[in-house]
Amino acid sequence: MKGIILHGGAGTRLRPLSFSGPKQLVPVANKPVSQWCLEDLVSCGITEISIVLGETFPELVREYYGDGSRFNANITYIYQGRPLGIAQAVGLCREFVSNESFVVYLGDNLLQKGIGKYLEKFSTEDFDAMVLLKEVDDPTRFGVAVFDENKKLIGLVEKPKKPPTNYALVGVYFFKPVVFDIIDELKPSWRGEYEITDAIHTMIKEGFNVGYEIVEGWWLDTGKKDDILQANALILDEQAVQQVEGDLLDSRLEGRVIVKGGAKIVKSTLRGPLIIGENCHIENSFIGPYTSIGNNCRIENSRIEFSVVLEGSFIENVERLDESLIGRYAKVIKNTGKSVKLHIGDYSEVEV
Ligand code: TTP
Repeated sequence: MKGIILHGGAGTRLRPLSFSGPKQLVPVANKPVSQWCLEDLVSCGITEISIVLGETFPELVREYYGDGSRFNANITYIYQGRPLGIAQAVGLCREFVSNESFVVYLGDNLLQKGIGKYLEKFSTEDFDAMVLLKEVDDPTRFGVAVFDENKKLIGLVEKPKKPPTNYALVGVYFFKPVVFDIIDELKPSWRGEYEITDAIHTMIKEGFNVGYEIVEGWWLDTGKKDDILQANALILDEQAVQQVEGDLLDSRLEGRVIVKGGAKIVKSTLRGPLIIGENCHIENSFIGPYTSIGNNCRIENSRIEFSVVLEGSFIENVERLDESLIGRYAKVIKNTGKSVKLHIGDYSEVEV
């Protein structure tokens, strides 16, 4: 069994962060989203993994994951470049996959309970393909499943205006190599992409054995800011433990708080679930809950909750920063005068 992580795409909905790196490297609980995918694969025993790179700083992905040995995996890279669709990205992996079964993990998708249980089902039931589904409130944003009266999967439709069911296609797919012949015959959809939904739909219509499983626990597609914040909160809720490696001076800890080595917390309150990265300096502040602060941040005289702050940022005199996603090396400083002064990049969002 081999694994493929899709690391391309345009990431338009996550601008401006996706101007300076692929969206899958944005951290939740101080770890890139795609690393959670990689670790899930490795924990299932899948260590032969190919990462498909897009055109947004692909070198950062290579730099971070390297040959995979740091993650107990053997990682190779395939360059997709322009995002011509998930099926096109998968189609590039034919040689890598050879004659083995494989799993495709969209590098911005997170599953609470991982894929182990579904992988086992795919392996034992001899499917040609297997999809994961999750009931959602608004299926119009997703590929959606169609069933017959016996709950047999009889088709898939991409982003339907009138969804036939509420079962959305999760971004993890299991295949046998026969899917490559189907992908070779695909035509681009109305939006100009080679859709994986079309490939799987064709397999169903041509009589291949396509199974499905309903996902237990939460599933998140972290394509937008609010999804990142939600994923961060859910993962912290699950994973945060009390673990203090840094120095605390005159400070209070409430709940499960992780303070990494070299961090200095002075006259502050930290409320978990929360993670403070290495070498941060937090002074006279209240941080948490549901917040991740990256390495080397400095926060003074501020209150931050339900937020993700990336490495190297500086926050000062901000009475309350809530539900915010702050990029790397950003500065957020309360102006003592009455005016608001901004110096922000393209597509930034500011609520004052
Ligand atoms: P999307 O989130 O649907 O696409 P996107 O990254 O272009 O996002 P946006 O709509 O904000 O511009 O893609 C789902 C996942 O698949 C994501 O991890 C990116 C990846 N992907 C590729 O690797 N190659 C592709 O050609 C496409 C379309 C997506």
